[in-house]
Amino acid sequence: MKTSIFEQSSDILITCAPDLSALTGREINDLSIPIKQILPHGIVVEGTAQTAMYLCMHLRTANKVLFLLKEARAANPDDLYKVAKNINWDNFFSNTSYFSIDSFVENNTIRDSRFANVRCKDAIADYFVEKTGKRPDSGPLRNSVVIFIYWRDSNLSIYLDLSGEPISRHGYRINPWKAPMAEPLAAGVVITSEWDPATPFINPMCGSGTLAIEAALIGTNKIPGLIRDEYAFQHIKGYEEETWHTMKKMALKNIKDTLPHKIIASDHDQRALDAAKTNAEKAGVDHLIDFVLSDFQDTPVEPGAEGVVILNPEYGERLGHEEALELTYKEIGDFFKKSCGGYKGFVFTGNLELAKRIGLKPKRKIKFFSAKIECRLMQYELYAGTRRTVFKTEE
Ligand SMILES: C[S@@+](CC[C@H](N)C(=O)[O-])C[C@H]1O[C@@H](n2cnc3c(N)ncnc32)[C@H](O)[C@@H]1O
Repeated sequence: MKTSIFEQSSDILITCAPDLSALTGREINDLSIPIKQILPHGIVVEGTAQTAMYLCMHLRTANKVLFLLKEARAANPDDLYKVAKNINWDNFFSNTSYFSIDSFVENNTIRDSRFANVRCKDAIADYFVEKTGKRPDSGPLRNSVVIFIYWRDSNLSIYLDLSGEPISRHGYRINPWKAPMAEPLAAGVVITSEWDPATPFINPMCGSGTLAIEAALIGTNKIPGLIRDEYAFQHIKGYEEETWHTMKKMALKNIKDTLPHKIIASDHDQRALDAAKTNAEKAGVDHLIDFVLSDFQDTPVEPGAEGVVILNPEYGERLGHEEALELTYKEIGDFFKKSCGGYKGFVFTGNLELAKRIGLKPKRKIKFFSAKIECRLMQYELYAGTRRTVFKTEE
């Protein structure tokens, strides 16, 4: 009987933010991996740990890749202990390994979800002690074997978290500067903009550069697995470095070196630009981006091209801040009209009242969440031509 998860199939749950699940599903389809089930918090496929490695390497909009070990009913922590102790843990790692446990728990017999982690840890330690006389070390670090418990009511699922650090960290954010967008969200926004990499991508107010960097990665087919080189699956029995290298080599073949137009990332704060540059260097895309210190209204926009302009302005979480921003949003509308004819314009904001100040009628308003704040990606069609005849204003 096959015991290695690199040979044996199971369900793989790819978790993602609910607002990104359609995009994650699209990414999985593009990898030609059949989708088995769509859940509110993720997507289920079937495969071996090799399938999971491939997903970890490619997905831009997902959070975790979880390989199912056991599904069972568990009414209370003692049941959880029994289920966990019955798993053949030494198929996956040994008593010299290090493991950590993470969980999502909604069960009314338990007040602190960390207790579920403790019971599972005890079960694994007891399993190894009974079998080998020694238990593996455990702790909070996610740089080795990671176990994930999903326990809602009496439904318990125990997984191996095969990325360890979530794949939502694309591995390039050295300097987050202020209010950075999560990388999967930024990737989702770029994908939603339907930007054609043969055309310009302009990102005024770039902050730490997440949108510009994700665009550069998408435009050149560079996937997150080529930036990051530490994953939990590398610590699971049966992992072969050679397989990972082969996957990497195949992915490298698809990368484009250049884009026909440099991506423009501008900000009026030198410190934000420094952060964006550092992050872009780490992502290996700094040569594809021009970093410009300027007010957003002076961002160089190639005239006559039909590209994408995306801004993510602040949206006034602080009292009194909103008034000053009203003018900024009005000026975004002026900038679109004056400098961006022929482009698709986008504004990502968590404040719909401020968005009205842009003064243009949005073609689409797409709902996203950023750190639990409901946001919209507003799309404006910025026709080339005279302002009076072509721009519809917001009623
Ligand atoms: C919400 S942050 C953008 C975050 C970015 N999307 C990221 O992922 O890091 C807004 C940025 O707009 C910049 N900004 C604000 N007003 C500006 C202006 N008038 N001209 C240029 N940049 C401006 C700020 O310096 C800040 O870096």
